[in-house]
Amino acid sequence: MIIDWPGLRAAATAAAGRAYAPYSGLRVGAAGLTADGQVVTGCNVENASYGLTLCAECGLVSALHASSAGAHRTAGSGPLRAVAVVAGDGEPLLPCGRCRQLLLEAGGGDLLVDTPTGPVELKVLLPAAFTSTDLAARREGQ
Ligand code: THU
Ligand code: ZN
Repeated sequence: MIIDWPGLRAAATAAAGRAYAPYSGLRVGAAGLTADGQVVTGCNVENASYGLTLCAECGLVSALHASSAGAHRTAGSGPLRAVAVVAGDGEPLLPCGRCRQLLLEAGGGDLLVDTPTGPVELKVLLPAAFTSTDLAARREGQ
């Protein structure tokens, strides 16, 4: 599929403008493209109790599920195909480790993630990941 990276970055930058980041001063926006062409966005939301902070990608994944674009209900890789995450200056910001794991279930290892040097597959950013397959194979007492 054709991915409009400048458009995706622009959507992420607009979301970053709506971030609530009074504690860190780092506004973050994320925009994702689904297999059926929908764009979903998220921004970071901080809290006086610092550890409760929600990353922009959390908001994106929640929006994905809350919209029809997120209508995947079974465990595994969801419909996300490309993601741009930016800081308030509009330049790419690499997702934190937790968000890489979250994005994995939303888009799988082939999900393309924007970086300063161009799109990179998520499986490169998160090699040897723990997945729902590992959970199914290793859980006890079922
Ligand atoms: N942040 C994100 O929104 N996404 C990431 O993957 C990295 C970090 C936010 C969380 C916090 O509000 C701020 O950046 C500083 O860590
Ligand atoms: Zn994160």
